[in-house]
Amino acid sequence: MNLTRSDLVQAVDAAAKPLELAIVLPTLNERNNLAPLVDRLDAALQGIAWEAIIVDDNSPDGTSDEARAISLRDPRIRVIQRIGRRGLASAAIEGMCATAAPVVAVMDADHQHDPKLLPGMLQAITSGEYDLAYASRFCAGASTDAWHRPDRVKASGLANSLARRVTGVTLSDPMSGYFMLRAETLRADAHRLSGVGFKILLDILATVESPLRVKEFPLAFAARAEGESKLDRTVVFEFLVGLYDKWLGRVIPTRFALFGTIGAMGVVVHMAVLAAFLGIFGGMPMRGQLVSSFEVGQTVAAVTAMTFNFFLNNALTYADKRLTGFVPLVRGWAKFGMTCFVGLTANVGVAAILVHYGIHEYPAALTGIVIASVWNFALSSKFVWGK
Ligand code: GDD
Ligand code: MN
Repeated sequence: MNLTRSDLVQAVDAAAKPLELAIVLPTLNERNNLAPLVDRLDAALQGIAWEAIIVDDNSPDGTSDEARAISLRDPRIRVIQRIGRRGLASAAIEGMCATAAPVVAVMDADHQHDPKLLPGMLQAITSGEYDLAYASRFCAGASTDAWHRPDRVKASGLANSLARRVTGVTLSDPMSGYFMLRAETLRADAHRLSGVGFKILLDILATVESPLRVKEFPLAFAARAEGESKLDRTVVFEFLVGLYDKWLGRVIPTRFALFGTIGAMGVVVHMAVLAAFLGIFGGMPMRGQLVSSFEVGQTVAAVTAMTFNFFLNNALTYADKRLTGFVPLVRGWAKFGMTCFVGLTANVGVAAILVHYGIHEYPAALTGIVIASVWNFALSSKFVWGK
């Protein structure tokens, strides 16, 4: 960095000023993007007292170490290294709650968002005219040309219109990951944000009590500088989860809905395995007839369905607490099996008692299923995926 005299005067001025702006940078494997990004922030924010908060989810490429190294040279850079947790939205919320700055911004750390927009956004907020400033990829003057992914541009447009319909939000790009607002606006509602997935702006817009006055900044969405996008594989799934969360999440919690849906899929798996098993072994005489082929098939089907449920819940329902590595997976699987076994016993027990007291078999069975699901969910979220 070559400092001129006026740079120095500005730097001293900015240092003497109370903190004005915090830029939250969620990161997952962005090691090589950080230092150049800090230089760009520094250039764009001359005369403004700012800090940047890098919220890193323990990236394997050592992003946190790099962030700390930068922080030693430039104390305006702060680091939050999260262990055992994942997610862009929750990282953004945590970063925004970790600053004393009156105004907070969130932007991607991969250079797709131009820091030059920041002073204008800050001006819009501090003037008191607007509550939220954000950069749109889809309004007049914006462009996504550098985004060499026509499928993503299209998907993003589709997701935007769906989101607008479900939430009533009218912005041209409610999925944008680049925005700014007063910290107190965020904090007032932070406890009600879902923190699921990466649609943090949409979540804020759909959650806050009083409507926000929004200023839109056209963004030329740049190409990613280094590394690759983290949103490709989970993009659709997390988006749908986010929408569900806003729509029905308060009636039936999102995690439970996912757990229940996967459970229902497990029933289908169970039936399919049982049918296949009986199809192959059903006609065979079992020697000694100690166990019937149905009993063996039922057991194989139950273990398969349980395993299927375990891995799907681990990948989706508990994506943010996902177990990885051979030993944790085997241990989790065993614990999940035990939980389900107790749940199954409770299921049958409750249903039997109800039938005994004259309740019809089907409502009794349904009650057993509901109780077992709640049990399995409550216990496995603590016992299998809890910390
Ligand atoms: N801490 C943390 N945890 N950071 C994450 C995670 C995570 O699980 N996932 C992604 N990030 C960081 C990335 O390191 C990057 O700085 C930023 O969040 C955006 O992630 P990308 O992986 O680069 O997203 P993208 O470019 O594909 O998606 C763009 O469009 C989305 C909407 O379509 C971004 O602008 C997103 O912010 C936007 O929501
Ligand atoms: Mn990106």
